[in-house]
Amino acid sequence: MSAESMKRAASEFTNTNLEVLLTEEQIRERVKELGAQISAEYADGDVVLIAILKGSCIFLADLMRAIDLRMTIDFMSVSSYKDSTESSGDVEILKDLSNPIRGKDVIVVEDIIDTGHTLARLLDILGTRGARSIKLAAFLDKPEPRVRKEVKIDYCGFVIPNHFVVGYGLDAAGRYRNLPFIARVKNPAEA
Ligand code: IMP
Ligand code: MG
Repeated sequence: MSAESMKRAASEFTNTNLEVLLTEEQIRERVKELGAQISAEYADGDVVLIAILKGSCIFLADLMRAIDLRMTIDFMSVSSYKDSTESSGDVEILKDLSNPIRGKDVIVVEDIIDTGHTLARLLDILGTRGARSIKLAAFLDKPEPRVRKEVKIDYCGFVIPNHFVVGYGLDAAGRYRNLPFIARVKNPAEA
């Protein structure tokens, strides 16, 4: 076996450059709680979960199975333009919703809120489309020192310290989305 193929055969889940911050069990319990809360609060609702690709795909899959209501899902993909000094980064819609949200109870499903710029802009855009209500479910909130847009998270999975994290849908340059837990990358240069 070549050195390269041996490297590729190594386990990703036990990669020594990762420190587990949230285990599969912790995540499962918390997402169940969020699902139960949403189920109770939207008993008379017309719910559509809008997942922001790609990071929220795993959270969406677990959350929707914890919501015992008649509901639908839709997807959006956006790219944000941020530069280091300007905080009013604009958002380009790469993939828009498949169906109108007029009259619907929208819950936007996002992986992580960092500066909040992407979400703030996205919520502005969705706010013009006649939904009956719009709320935000974010799996992670990273509220430590930063230039932060005021984004109200209605359903938050976990508040975490200001580390770069991966797993459960979150990536570093496309990698690690498949980890069933949330981990900190110890040495980002190695990631
Ligand atoms: P912001 O809230 O506009 O700054 O950007 C949030 C987006 O940045 C998220 O949807 C993620 O795609 C990405 N992001 C922010 N922090 C992390 C992290 O710790 N790990 C992986 N992606 C992150
Ligand atoms: Mg994202």
